[in-house]
Order: sequence, then C-alpha cells, then structure tokens
Amino acid sequence: MLNQKTMFVYLKYIPVIALLASCTATKKMASQDSSFATEQHRPQIHFSPKTGWMNDPNGMVYYNGTYHLFYQYYPDSTVWGPMHWGHATSKDMMHWQHQPIALYPDSLGYIFSGSAVADVNNTSGFGKSGHVPLVAIFTSHDPKREKEHRNDVENQSIAYSLDEGKTWTKYSGNPVLKNPGIRDFRDPKVSWFEEGKKWIMTLATQDRITFFSSPNLKDWTKESEFGKDLGAHGGVWECPDLFPLNYEGKKQWVLVVNLNPGGPNGGSATQYFVGNFDGHQFTPYQTETKWIDYGPDEYAGITWSNTGDRKIFLGWMSNWQYANLVPTKKWRSAMTVPRELRLEKVGENFLVASKPAEEVTRLAAQTMNLESGTTGKLNGPATVHIATSKAADFAITLSNDKGQKVVLGYDKASNSYFIDRTQSGKVSFEKGFAARHTAPRFSTSESIDLTLIIDNASAELFADNGLTVMTEIFFPDSDYSDFTVQAPDRSTIRSVQMSRLKSIYEGNSLAQQ
Ligand code: FRU
Repeated sequence: MLNQKTMFVYLKYIPVIALLASCTATKKMASQDSSFATEQHRPQIHFSPKTGWMNDPNGMVYYNGTYHLFYQYYPDSTVWGPMHWGHATSKDMMHWQHQPIALYPDSLGYIFSGSAVADVNNTSGFGKSGHVPLVAIFTSHDPKREKEHRNDVENQSIAYSLDEGKTWTKYSGNPVLKNPGIRDFRDPKVSWFEEGKKWIMTLATQDRITFFSSPNLKDWTKESEFGKDLGAHGGVWECPDLFPLNYEGKKQWVLVVNLNPGGPNGGSATQYFVGNFDGHQFTPYQTETKWIDYGPDEYAGITWSNTGDRKIFLGWMSNWQYANLVPTKKWRSAMTVPRELRLEKVGENFLVASKPAEEVTRLAAQTMNLESGTTGKLNGPATVHIATSKAADFAITLSNDKGQKVVLGYDKASNSYFIDRTQSGKVSFEKGFAARHTAPRFSTSESIDLTLIIDNASAELFADNGLTVMTEIFFPDSDYSDFTVQAPDRSTIRSVQMSRLKSIYEGNSLAQQ
C-alpha cells in the first residue's frame, strides 16, 4: 500500500504523465535566435533554459576554470516529463553558454537528479591518456516499473566524460547501486572523503538519508542512515548534500536535505543540519529544523563540487506546488543566484548563512543613494542594500503603473521578515500563490542590514548578512518600474543604496548561441 508521502510523489507527476499521454506527438521547440532574452518574465541575471521545462540543478562541478551546470530538463514541453540532463557552462556562474543535452533517458529510465565529480585520481579507471574523467552519478527512474507500482523504480547509475563534459558515456555496468525496495531512492550527491580516501554518496531514501561509500564510484557499500525521526517530515526527502564548512578554523559538517512538501511557507524547501561526519555516520549537534531559505521559491538547492574553500549553493527558483503552472510561455523556471555559504553562531546554535556570490555583484553598473520615503526607478535587474539604525518596521515596495506590487520588509512585532505577493500581478494560476510569506529574524544585532537581488520575475532577500534568506517569484503584467522604501519612523533608515545590474545577455554573444 502507498503511504501518504509515496502517494504525494506519484501525484506530483500524474497530471504531467496524463498530459504527455494525451499528446500524440510532442514538438521540439526550436529557438535559434536571441529573442528569447527579451520574452516577458525572462530573468535577466538568473540562469533559465531558452525553451522547455527545467527543475533541479544537477551535477554542478567546477573543473579547469569552468563551472558546469546540469539540470533536470524536458526539452519537448513546458511541463515536467521524461527527464534529461540539460547542460550549460560558465566562467563566472552568471553568463552561461547553453550546451547540448548531456544525458538522455535510456532503457533504465529517466535521468533524475544527481551530482558530478572530477575523478582526479582516476579511481574509476575511466580516465584515459591523462584525461581526467568527469563522472556523473544520477538516479535512473524507470517509468515502466512506476506504472506497475513496483518499489524498485529508482536505482543509481553513472556516466563519464573525457572531454570536460562535452560528451558522455554511460557505464555498461549500470545501475551501480540497486534499489533494496524503497520507493523513493534517489538524488545521489557524491564527494571525496579525504580522511578515509573514499567516495561518500549521500542519498535521499524516502524519509531519511542513507550514506554509502565507494573506492571507485562503481561499488557501493551502505554506511549508515540518518534522520528518520529528526527534522521536518511534511513530505518526502529529496536532493541531499553533505559538505564541510570551517568555523573559527575547525571543520564542521552540513547536511542539506530538501523536502517536498512541508516547507516553512508551504510546498518545497531546503532544510539543513549541522554536525559531525566521521566517514561513516552523521551526528547532528542540534535537532531543531532550520532552513537555508525560508521563501517559497528556492528548492533542490545543493552545492558545486571541486570549488576549494568556497562553498557555492544554487537552487531551483520554483516550488512543486505551482511549478508546472507558472505563466511563462516558452520555458519554465530559473535558478537562484549562486550563493556563498558560511557558518555563523547565534548563541549556541550553528546557522548556515548565505550571501550572493561576489560574481553577482560584479554585474553592478550605476549605483545611487536614495532617501527613505522617496521612489526610485527600476529599469531591469538591480541590487538594493538597506541599512537601519534600529530593528524597526520598514517596507520596500516594487510596483508598476498597473497597481501591481510586491512588498517586502521587516515586522518588529513578530520579529520577522516578510514578502507579500498577494497583488503582484498574475496570481490566479494556483490558489496558494497569492500569499504573504514570513521568515524569522535570528540576528540579535540592534540594526538591520538587508540585501535584495531583484530581477524581472523574482526577489531574493538576504537579511543580517544572510542569516535569514527568502526567495520569491512573481509575474507582473508589466515589469516593476518603481521602488519605494517606507518606515513609520524614517530616521531609522540609515541608507538605501541601489545598483543597476547588467543583464547577463548584454554583450554575451555566447549565451545567445
Ligand atoms: C526534486 C525531484 C528529485 C527528482 C527530480 C525529478 O525536485 O523530485 O527528487 O530526482 O526532481 O525531476
């Protein structure tokens, strides 16, 4: 019998499967020109596919000066379908060059989420003539078995590339990790554990994480399980990640677990635990649930591999609650901006803080200072910094001349940040979309420091140096053109600084190929 969580996962895909079945022929949408960059709601500083459906970031690996982003992709429609791995490359995680699809569905099934590593020691033996293999580890999701309601639908497979991600060969011995009878058994995140000289796979296994280890990426041994009774369990656990972060010179471990549904503002969201990992087992220091991003629109977020001391996080900027319904025509969804993670301590608690990677701020063009209460003009993407002298109420409004607006800010009475998109524009595509969302303030500082990253269809709020983060998407009928900061006591606003951000399509011929 299906339990509730398992049912949910089936339900998530059923409308899509039905829709696909009803299409006699799916048409490939070709767009050879660059007009995609100016389509309505097209993000100007966030990665989005030119056409088709996109969800989770996958296989993010930095190698030889290039950031690789693979992603859950269905090229033949703007709703979820048979999953491929799309591919894009970048030198700075902002300007992307679209690449041919890296992995296509095969006899083992759709290519679900997973990770990629640079196997510099050639542990896999895939390397030849000095070429370092990039190895992708992903879930093969078998739609035939799914229809038969079997429990061994998902198995882990690998593929390798000897030309820096241009072409991929699937391993003949796939799957490398077979399903022991767990319906949700997916999204392998693999990293090298130097102390034990072995690979660790962090796998989402329905309501817990299971760790496996391997000397060669092909043979996997179960190490331990974590989390059955810890953290948030409003839905199924998906897309985990495990990585170290230093705090005052000491290595700590962060375990990221995406959850759908059951997020703090409904639907999908990213929770995490901080603790110790000894090569076999993860032991958390605290057990209360924490979220990397409290907004409704960051999901499946994980980090890049092979970036040295930097830990860079990227999420899918949507929510399964309405991802298949959002009002864009030729494509669906974008990624968040890349975010640099670090550990902070508030009281006895470790918190993961994120801030926009410096590559984002490198897009800044003109910067201007605004007075509180005055209206500034928005003309495309922007970053806004607000500093207050006190933790007192304030609100920032982004609006257009149709009276559509998003309001965000701080509410002292509840000591929380908020984003209200009830009147943001197109909202009727899903009944829960028009809502006001909140996130707790953790900082105990007297003053507030807030950074906003604004794009045509999204706002990312980083408060208190990234201790509280919220991501929110919206679809105004015409782009927001005005920006106002208001506070009951204006004297509490110390400064408002706004910088225009250059569109990633400005002068980027590569992205338009
Ligand atoms: C998360 C997820 C993953 C799965 C993929 C399928 O958004 O459900 O668990 O691998 O999407 O596209």
